Amino acid sequence: MTGGLTSDAATGAPIARVGVVGGGLMGSGIAQVAAQAGLDTTVRELTDPLLARARDAITRSLDKAIEKGKLTSDGRDAALARLTFTTRVADLAGADIIIEAVVEDLDTKNALWRELHAIASPRAIFASNTSSLTIAAMAAASGRPDRMVGLHFFNPVPLMRLVEVVRTITTSDDTFGRTMGLVRQLGKQPIVSRDSSGFVVNRLLIPYMLDAIRALENGVGSITDIDAGMHLGAGHPMGPFTLLDFVGLDTVARVAEVMFDEYREQRFAPPPLLRRLVLAGHLGRKTGRGFYDHSVDPPTPSNLAL
Ligand code: 3HC
Repeated sequence: MTGGLTSDAATGAPIARVGVVGGGLMGSGIAQVAAQAGLDTTVRELTDPLLARARDAITRSLDKAIEKGKLTSDGRDAALARLTFTTRVADLAGADIIIEAVVEDLDTKNALWRELHAIASPRAIFASNTSSLTIAAMAAASGRPDRMVGLHFFNPVPLMRLVEVVRTITTSDDTFGRTMGLVRQLGKQPIVSRDSSGFVVNRLLIPYMLDAIRALENGVGSITDIDAGMHLGAGHPMGPFTLLDFVGLDTVARVAEVMFDEYREQRFAPPPLLRRLVLAGHLGRKTGRGFYDHSVDPPTPSNLAL
């Protein structure tokens, strides 16, 4: 894709420059797809080592795309040239949209929005990649409730085609239209969700993953049999335990807790086994151990002393 601009029908205002705050798994994936779509993209992280990690992750993913025949080396170089890495919030001042992908904690996010509001262009859209918090809870702190939206990507961002677009009661038509246009420009399919904790996908996916853990706790089947059941019997690309380890057990537990707080429904309550694994620091693929031991290839099911 070449360096096109997204125009909204209402004002014709282009989205050409994207700011991404947080260079973790989601932030680096979002920055990658924005740069690949021809948008000038600035990634902000807290420290230089974290920025280096984000840059390495993006480079590795682009190289993988080349390996898979999805990208040319010129395409990779052009995408990398559109990326700027910084530790300074002030460097996001020129962005047309700022997408937040930091830790799933409302106070942290709201402190960030306040800081960003002070430096960002008055027209800039603020978008949160939250998995479970409501966007309305950030609208006031953003200082621009009419330009606040949810933009929920899925992991791995370069491969997953969906983005949930969340409008609140205060989101303007202009903001919504420009955001939908941006998602399409990124080559993704938008769906619209009401501003309700978990939106569409996590509202269905989180209870499913938690139910798999409960089935294991109840001795219904082994990790590998439950995984094979859903992979081969229901056509899911990954069984629930492979997916849990892939998403990260701390992330799933945190999202579940926020949803349980919101709805007070048992189906969102993190099961004891999930809490124990998180306490043990067995967070899945990223720590090398979760429901599977990832230090061996192929990964083997962990002994969970059930
Ligand atoms: N760049 C571009 N394309 C790539 C690539 C890369 N870095 N790596 C692989 N690809 C392409 C491959 O060429 C292939 O394309 P094809 O279908 O045209 O041949 C396709 O992507 C699949 O690649 P692979 O065959 O290597 O990988 P798999 O078939 O094993 O699929 C997967 C990998 C897409 C991750 C699949 O296992 C999957 O969909 N898993 C489920 C993931 C999921 O559910 N994610 C959501 C998690 S929940 C979430 O994020 C929400 C949060 O709020 C908690």
